[in-house]
Amino acid sequence: MQEKPAVIFESIFEQEVFNGLTAFPKHLSSKYFYDEKGDKLFQDIMAMPEYYLTDCEFEILSEHKAEITALFTKDTHKINIIELGAGDGKKTKILLRYLVEQGINFVYSPIDISQNALDLLERSVKEELPEIEINPLQGTYFETLETLNHRNGTKNVILFLGSNIGNLLHPQAVDFLKSIRKLMYPEDLLFMGFDQKKNPQTILDAYNDAAGITAAFNKNVLVRLNSELEANFEIDQFLHWEVYDPETGTAKSYLVSKKEQQVFIKKLDLSIEFKAWETIHTEISQKYDDKIVNWLAEEADLEVLTEFSDSRQFYKDYIFKKST
Ligand code: AVJ
Repeated sequence: MQEKPAVIFESIFEQEVFNGLTAFPKHLSSKYFYDEKGDKLFQDIMAMPEYYLTDCEFEILSEHKAEITALFTKDTHKINIIELGAGDGKKTKILLRYLVEQGINFVYSPIDISQNALDLLERSVKEELPEIEINPLQGTYFETLETLNHRNGTKNVILFLGSNIGNLLHPQAVDFLKSIRKLMYPEDLLFMGFDQKKNPQTILDAYNDAAGITAAFNKNVLVRLNSELEANFEIDQFLHWEVYDPETGTAKSYLVSKKEQQVFIKKLDLSIEFKAWETIHTEISQKYDDKIVNWLAEEADLEVLTEFSDSRQFYKDYIFKKST
């Protein structure tokens, strides 16, 4: 019998694409949305009227910056602000600016999967807030969490904004919180945004905007496969589809093949067959309520110190500490 030659993967990206597209049902990870074009599309999403999340968190940080930063700086002279998935840092700068104005001594360590996003962020911080000591780190959350584990008598405040946690299923979210907890000292804080359950239509509209920006964002993963892995996806032959389950609070994004078609991914030497209306699952955007957040925290041995909400109660930021 002839053995099929094993594919040698040059990166985790290649391996995950191979595994995801040869699986049934097919899937691709949402972390691969974020190349230069994807970063730009996500910024466009944040600026859309339907995407309420950004405005809500902006409101929370603006309204409560004094109270929030007072908790950050309680009992210490120096803090280390570590931000996971920093992106363009637009919301974070509300807090950073306020800390600078208060004369607080701190280091800002933004972490992101996109080097492009980090470069833009570093440049804009140096321009707008030149007083800040900035220390950017490129990588996935899990890779970079390891490197955070250095201690120099400084209180760590870990920020995880934008409901980025929503890309994780609950068991992964618990593991993630546990790995953060492992790195925390008793006085450290974890500040996290959780998009809340609300009218399902509001949620669907946020992930299926009229102008098609979210569709372009979702399809960008295929554009990336075309350019980086020399694939030949016909982008127009896939449909962006969003569903939201108001019971579980899970929003899911799919790319749906409009016809029976075959795609070849040259770099992986891989042919993929799509049946008409076959799906590729690309993202989950989990929505929460207090009960779920408290359960997640408890599972990870964390406790909610306090929480902040916007005026419409669409979104909440929670501050966690280690359970005692
Ligand atoms: C960056 C993961 C928070 O799930 O709301 C926006 C990404 N996807 N529109 C989200 C996203 C489609 C976003 N997060």
